[in-house]
Amino acid sequence: MITIESNNLEDTLDLGRRIGRIVKPGDIISLDGDLGAGKTVLTRGIAEGMGLDADDVMSPTFAIVNEYEKEGVTPLFHFDTYRLQDADDFLACGLDEYFGRGGVCVIEWGNIIGDILPGNAARIEITGVGDKRVIKIEGIGLC
Ligand SMILES: Nc1ncnc2c1ncn2[C@@H]1O[C@H](COP(=O)(O)OP(=O)(O)OP(=O)(O)O)[C@@H](O)[C@H]1O
Ligand SMILES: [Mg+2]
Repeated sequence: MITIESNNLEDTLDLGRRIGRIVKPGDIISLDGDLGAGKTVLTRGIAEGMGLDADDVMSPTFAIVNEYEKEGVTPLFHFDTYRLQDADDFLACGLDEYFGRGGVCVIEWGNIIGDILPGNAARIEITGVGDKRVIKIEGIGLC
């Protein structure tokens, strides 16, 4: 596990960009942290690092999943499971089908579906107050 400190929004975006440059098709990243922790900001950075148009990356709280695709680039499937009760809800909606679609899945509130996350899913947890964040990363080889 590595721990990275972010002092502001730009630091978190930069970290996301670094992650986005090394992710591979089929990767699953579970993101946890309170409301406003910076999960969507990090995801925007990941999208940018992957070479996708990141300007419109917003929390898909109402849609559960947003798809970002661009010719010649690995797609990003951005989930927000905040409104789901548990993994059964996720399965009932058939959303696990996305895991096998050859994109990168980033799942805000991934803990909610923790029971069915594949064992090789990466996990990122964001905590902090004010503009400072502590971001713990497990399962992504950033070093
Ligand atoms: N160091 C930081 N890293 C990321 N965001 C920061 C930081 N400092 C302040 N912020 C602010 O915190 C907010 C993070 O919002 P964001 O939508 O990314 O949170 P979230 O974890 O996705 O929340 P939600 O659970 O509601 O989807 C933004 O308003 C951003 O400007
Ligand atoms: Mg969000």
